[in-house]
Amino acid sequence: MNDDLQKRIQAALANPQNMGELAGADAIGTVGNADCGEMLRLWVKFKEQNGKQVIDRATFQSFGCETAIAVASLATELIRGKTAAEALALKTEELAGELGPLPPMKIHCAQLVEGALRSALEPGKAEDKLASPANAPTLLDRFSKPKEGGVKLTFLDEEKG
Ligand code: FES
Repeated sequence: MNDDLQKRIQAALANPQNMGELAGADAIGTVGNADCGEMLRLWVKFKEQNGKQVIDRATFQSFGCETAIAVASLATELIRGKTAAEALALKTEELAGELGPLPPMKIHCAQLVEGALRSALEPGKAEDKLASPANAPTLLDRFSKPKEGGVKLTFLDEEKG
């Protein structure tokens, strides 16, 4: 990873936005990457604005990968005020925003964020009935107690190359 990118990632990590679960979320998406073991969950809450449902707030939880956390921090800010369709139309590199182009070995980190967004927002994909605090334990809880929750985890197909 080049120094400039590392600096931009560190800048995003110095003040990460929107980390943690979001009580009362309208949609939740969880994805995992089987190769690196990283998992990421995204919560989205909508509000009505000018007769449209737009994203009021989005938050995330992630285990450890700095690039995924940096992208999720930027992406959750970027999608505020957008409709679900507008958010889904964003390309991976747009979600990474000011981090700029990612090296090939880090593109999947941004794709994890994109995958969580799709999992949350695409019709029929969002995890149901997880919005109330009683039904929405932390991501870590979900994976440490798999038999209790029935979390829907989508592993992304990764393009090798
Ligand atoms: Fe796999 Fe970042 S190293 S998500």
